[in-house]
Amino acid sequence: MSKELWTSVDRYLTDVLVTPDAALDAALESSAAADLPAINVTPNLGKFLFLLARLVGAKNILEIGTLGGYSTIWLARGLAPGGRLITLEAEPKHAEVARTNLARAGVSSVVDLREGLALDLLPGVAAEMRAPFDLVFIDADKVNNPEYFRHSLELTRVGSLIIVDNVVRNGAVADPNSSDASVKAVRRMNEILAAEPRVSATALQTVGSKGYDGFAMVLVTSDPKRPAG
Ligand code: SAH
Ligand code: DHB
Ligand code: MG
Repeated sequence: MSKELWTSVDRYLTDVLVTPDAALDAALESSAAADLPAINVTPNLGKFLFLLARLVGAKNILEIGTLGGYSTIWLARGLAPGGRLITLEAEPKHAEVARTNLARAGVSSVVDLREGLALDLLPGVAAEMRAPFDLVFIDADKVNNPEYFRHSLELTRVGSLIIVDNVVRNGAVADPNSSDASVKAVRRMNEILAAEPRVSATALQTVGSKGYDGFAMVLVTSDPKRPAG
């Protein structure tokens, strides 16, 4: 089993199931041209996010970690009519590339891209929130995942979905002695998920053109504003 095989299967699955889209292709091309790291979700995972947004009938989506806006475009396209998406990005250069990509995809009017450190921006998002987020996609720096999860939970409702990307990291997540700060943080987040009575969570491994990784899926099962028990 090899990355070459995973990549060719990803290419096959994408070719057969993911309709080519000029704006999504251009988002990846302009991100590469601007030397952004190629750590966007794959097309088939992007479509998965789109389908999740449709499944939950998302009117409000929060994304932490925009990069060039590739996942943002998928999520924005999954919004219910009248829906809105807030996406948070720390790197001004990434945000600038994303703004162009979002405009080209025709989703600028439904996407509110905010520049800054997510932990600095989240309190403002909470303060002005009119409705809870139906879907949260956590995909920024991994060391802050425990904090991103805590904030996300307070910003959701019963039935909301929280997706956390990159929770397997080549299998390193299973090593209790890992010295990698990202791995340690993902493990800490998993323990928080396990101990949190207001959610039900699982995680899945993935292989593909981006290698061996995975994502966690968290369903909010009781009122986040009211501690359980
Ligand atoms: N969701 C994107 C990929 C995001 S990559 C996609 O799939 O297309 C992670 C992004 O998080 C990078 O652009 C990085 O600059 C940003 N990031 C890293 N630390 C951050 C922080 N503390 N606050 C906000 N964004 C951060
Ligand atoms: C990294 C971040 C991502 O969002 C991703 O999908 C892959 C890798 C990283 O920071 O290494
Ligand atoms: Mg990611």
